[in-house]
Amino acid sequence: QIPLWLDCDTGHDDAFAILLAAHGPSLRLLGISTVHGNASLEQTTHNTLSVLAAVGRPDVPVHPGAAKPFCRNAVHAADIHGVSGLDGTTLLPRPLSKPIMKPNAVLAMRHALMGQPEGTAWLVATGALTNVALLFATFPELVGHLKGLSVMGGAIGGGFTDAPMGHVKGQGERFGNWTRWAEFNIYCDPEAAESIFSNRKLAAKTTLIPLDLTHQVLATKKAQQTLLTGTTFTTSSTAAINLRQMFHDLLLYFAHTYSEVYGLTEGPPLHDPIAVAVLLEAIMGPIMRFADNGGERWHVNIVTDGLHSRHDEERGQVGRTVVTKSDHGGVRIPRSMEVES
Ligand code: BDR
Ligand code: CA
Repeated sequence: QIPLWLDCDTGHDDAFAILLAAHGPSLRLLGISTVHGNASLEQTTHNTLSVLAAVGRPDVPVHPGAAKPFCRNAVHAADIHGVSGLDGTTLLPRPLSKPIMKPNAVLAMRHALMGQPEGTAWLVATGALTNVALLFATFPELVGHLKGLSVMGGAIGGGFTDAPMGHVKGQGERFGNWTRWAEFNIYCDPEAAESIFSNRKLAAKTTLIPLDLTHQVLATKKAQQTLLTGTTFTTSSTAAINLRQMFHDLLLYFAHTYSEVYGLTEGPPLHDPIAVAVLLEAIMGPIMRFADNGGERWHVNIVTDGLHSRHDEERGQVGRTVVTKSDHGGVRIPRSMEVES
């Protein structure tokens, strides 16, 4: 079994990441830390506890982390995830457990991850990177102990495709999803992101799942239907039907906002569970694998100059993910993924 800790800002796609982390084959979810992002910390924590109740894992400890970035104000994504961060269903249960305040998120992560045999545990981050940056700044020895860090974030665009101006599927000439340049998770706390990617030892253990990849894996109408009805078996249990309906409701809401805001009508990219799927690559073998052009590696830098203002996006590129090919070390950034259907 692969031990993992999930750090998330539970919105719609984070909910799917929790489902996979909590029930994925051979995964052992040690705990979850929550962070500001899609909604306030209080709300993302509540959403996390509700989703854990829904998927039958209220035993997973949830530790609230940072409510804001290091040196900026928090930014939330109500136009994508609704004001609650998880709008669109009436089937979310009330939490069955409470958030754990002591020890705090950073201490809890360290304790859980260091408690695993060396070279086995993963940290998966699907929100703003404030907690993760604090963790490695406080406990640098954890870098050597971990098996890997998997991050959903970034929009590479031109730097990745060698095109003069890159694009992400469905995004036209812009490759960010929050500003023209920046992906949301990185934009939320660019200084935290930069501290992670500029840490050479940590970068060498990091896999980055950017929009360039997630926009190739859309939750199409067919996938939405499969979620509701399944393919290989039918179930008569009311709990299972409700759970399918709840995730289906969430997916339809997400599909709607993606279509309204980005004009992406095929279906929304389900970003966050892909960062969890990275851990399954070793055991899923040929059924699911990520293609990274023969193991290419990248130096990643984050643009941190500029104000947190959408009006600034033409002048400043704050939160932009800039990559250069590396000969030694660097971050793994899969270009695509193959899944046998
Ligand atoms: C990321 O931003 C959030 O809104 C999603 O949950 C995902 O983690 C995609 O840019
Ligand atoms: Ca997220």
